[in-house]
Amino acid sequence: MSDAAASRFRPFEVVSKKRESATITSFRLAPLDGGQWRPFEAGQFLTLRIPDGKGGYALRNYTVSSSPREEGSYRITVKREAAPSDEVPQGLSSCWLHDEVEPGAVIEIDTPRGGFKLDAASTRPVVLLSGGVGLTPTVSMLNVLARESERPVWFIHACDSAEVHALRDEVEALAALRPGISVHFCYRFAGDGDRCHSRGFLSRDTLQSLLPLDDYDIYMCGPPPFMQALYGILTGLGVRKERIAYEFFGPASLLTAEGETPARKAPPAPAPVAAEDGGVKIVLEKSGRSFAWDGASESILAFLEAQGIEPAFSCRAGVCGTCEQGLVSGEVDYFEEPLDDMPADRVLLCCTRPKSSVVLDL
Ligand SMILES: Cc1cc2nc3c(=O)[nH]c(=O)nc-3n(C[C@H](O)[C@H](O)[C@H](O)COP(=O)(O)OP(=O)(O)OC[C@H]3O[C@@H](n4cnc5c(N)ncnc54)[C@H](O)[C@@H]3O)c2cc1C
Ligand code: FES
Repeated sequence: MSDAAASRFRPFEVVSKKRESATITSFRLAPLDGGQWRPFEAGQFLTLRIPDGKGGYALRNYTVSSSPREEGSYRITVKREAAPSDEVPQGLSSCWLHDEVEPGAVIEIDTPRGGFKLDAASTRPVVLLSGGVGLTPTVSMLNVLARESERPVWFIHACDSAEVHALRDEVEALAALRPGISVHFCYRFAGDGDRCHSRGFLSRDTLQSLLPLDDYDIYMCGPPPFMQALYGILTGLGVRKERIAYEFFGPASLLTAEGETPARKAPPAPAPVAAEDGGVKIVLEKSGRSFAWDGASESILAFLEAQGIEPAFSCRAGVCGTCEQGLVSGEVDYFEEPLDDMPADRVLLCCTRPKSSVVLDL
C-alpha cells in the first residue's frame, strides 16, 4: 500500500465487543478523533488495516451492520474463520479480531464504501436475503426500512442452526416496529428445540410460498453456493435480473454456472466514451481477442464477464487489487476511487470504464 493510501486510514477505538453467536462477534468502532466519523449508506463496508503478524499489514473488508443513523460509531459483525484443516493457517483477520481484540484496542479503518446500497428512493417491496454472516448488510438495511419507510419487507435468513444464528433478537425487534415486515429463518441443521420457520436448504417452494407475485427489489448476500442457488431460484421464479443486487464476501465466484455475473443494481451512469473511428474497443493482447465496448456496462470487469471472460475479482470496489491488470495502452476513467494509486500501466477492472480504446495485458 502506498503512503497516500495508508494515510487515508484513521484510528478507531473498539468501544464494545459482543458475542452474537457461537461463531459471530460484533465490534463497535468509534473514531479516536470524533470528527473522523463519516456517513455511510446501509449495505456499505469498511476496510480495516490489520497486523499481518509479520510486521506488515493486511486489508480486510467488513460491512457495517448498524444503522446509518447511529452517528459517531460503526458496528461490524464478524464470523470467525477457523482453519478448515491443520495444514492451513486460520483466518488472519477474523481470528485476530475474535481472539485478540478487546475494548480499548485501536484499529485503523478507511471511510465506508461500496456499491451494494439500499435504494431508499425506490417504492418497490423489498426482499432481504442472506446466508450466514451475509446478514450484516441486510440488518443495516432493515434498520432503515423499518424506521423510515412503509414498504413491505421480507427478511429471509438461512444459517446452520440457532447456535450460529446472529442478530436474531435485533431483527425480530425491528420487524415488530411496524406492520408489513415478515421474517423467515431457515436452519440447515436445526437442532431439537431450535425455533425456525423452515429446515434444510432454502428452497424454491419456500420462497414461492413466502413471496406473493410482485415486482421486488432483492438484496442478496451470502456464501457463493448460497448465492448461486438463490440466484437460480429467483430468476426461475421470474424475478428480473436487474432487480437483484448482491454482495460477495471475500473471493467471489460467478453467480451462474454459465459464467454470468449480472450488473449491480442501479450502477452509476456510464461515463461518456470518446468517439473513435470504428468505436471504442477492449483488446486483450495475450489472447488476441477484441470486443466493441457496449457503452453501458457497469465496468470493464462486468463487460468482460458478459463476453464469457472471467478475470479474477473479489471486492468489486477498488479495495483488494484482485482485478488488477496490465494496461498496455489507452485511457480509463475510475468511477470509484481505488484505495491505492494505480501506476499508468496498471488498471483495476472492477471500477473503471474506457475513455478510449484500451489494450489489456490479458
Ligand atoms: C465487501 C465485503 C464485505 C464483507 N463483510 C463481512 C462481514 O460483514 N462480516 C464478515 O465476517 N466477513 C465479511 N467479509 C469477509 C472478510 O473481509 C474476510 O474475508 C473474512 O473475515 C476472512 O478473512 P480472514 O483474514 O479471517 O481469513 P483469511 O486469512 O483470508 O482466510 C480465509 C479462510 O481461508 C483459510 N486459509 C488460509 N490460508 C489458507 C491456505 N493456504 N489454504 C487453504 N485455506 C486457507 C483460513 O483458515 C480461512 O478459513 C466481507 C468481505 C467483503 C469483500
Ligand atoms: S476486485 Fe477488488 S479491486 Fe477490483
